[in-house]
Amino acid sequence: MEFTGTHILSIKQFERVDIDRVFAVADSMKPYAQRNKVTRVLQGAILGNMFFEPSTRTRISFGSAFNLLGGNVRETTGFENSAISKGESLYDTARVLSGYSDVICMRHPTAGSVSDFSKASCVPVINGGDGDNEHPTQALLDLYTISNELSSKGRSIDGLRIAMIGDLKYGRTVHSLCHLLCLYKNIYVSLVSPNELSMPEEFVSELRSAGHEVIISEELTPNISNVDIAYSTRIQEERFPSLEEADLYRGRFRLNQSIYTQYCEPNTVIMHPLPRDSRTEANELDSDLDTNPNLAIFRQANNGVLIRMALFALVLDVAHLVDKYADDVPWFSGRGC
Ligand code: NCD
Repeated sequence: MEFTGTHILSIKQFERVDIDRVFAVADSMKPYAQRNKVTRVLQGAILGNMFFEPSTRTRISFGSAFNLLGGNVRETTGFENSAISKGESLYDTARVLSGYSDVICMRHPTAGSVSDFSKASCVPVINGGDGDNEHPTQALLDLYTISNELSSKGRSIDGLRIAMIGDLKYGRTVHSLCHLLCLYKNIYVSLVSPNELSMPEEFVSELRSAGHEVIISEELTPNISNVDIAYSTRIQEERFPSLEEADLYRGRFRLNQSIYTQYCEPNTVIMHPLPRDSRTEANELDSDLDTNPNLAIFRQANNGVLIRMALFALVLDVAHLVDKYADDVPWFSGRGC
């Protein structure tokens, strides 16, 4: 794909060669993300970071990524802080805000809305999650994490065995990840969810058409015993008709150290897009896993900065200039994580 000036709305836009390109640029961003070097390559550029749904990692890592490339960030969070709450259309908002920015990142509760917004925008728009539809940058950082975790064990993405666990109906991260896995070969996917929250049929048939083996189950333990990656997800309570209905499914699939020791292979990597729901009634990933070296959730979250830096550098066509505008940092940068 041509990255320069392109909206990043769906993971379906990417071919395998594009993924390789994003991952290579992400690798080259490590000295900057680890604060060993600074670059001014986006000095003067403005990111409009528009989040109309709660977000911690995605919003802040988009902003940090832009700052780390030397650019400035303007934030809008929540409808109540935007003229959308006065009845302004997405079209008008896009026309106006794209006049103030060089690139826009957007999260919105309605599926398809980020794409609609991009049609009226004069600058590239990156989808930070649109309802239960897609979360393309999360899928990229998830696959980048999978690739890094497997390569440290001498493996590649082809031949991956993964269990996706939890709310697979409303979870946009697993939807985008399924699309992405279709670009690879010989994948085994175990889909573990309550029947009512199962992966929509279109994703299952897409995986099967790509030649992948797909198992569908309501049981956790037999399905985490033969996988490289156990990818847990939160019940997406905000997408349910009522909280009472979401409560029915909380805590169905809990992973803790004793279940891990009893059922998982010794090197199974645990992932989660976060936030993990740590309330007692849910506790899908117990904190007793925090010292397990195969718990990759914080490495995964850190990778979000690298991937988002790579996307900004590619979309704004500065990937080849980042080092040219770089300096060493004068401050102590011996980071502990
Ligand atoms: C996810 C999201 O918002 O879809 N979080 C994230 O972006 N890291 C998953 C979730 O909220 O459960």
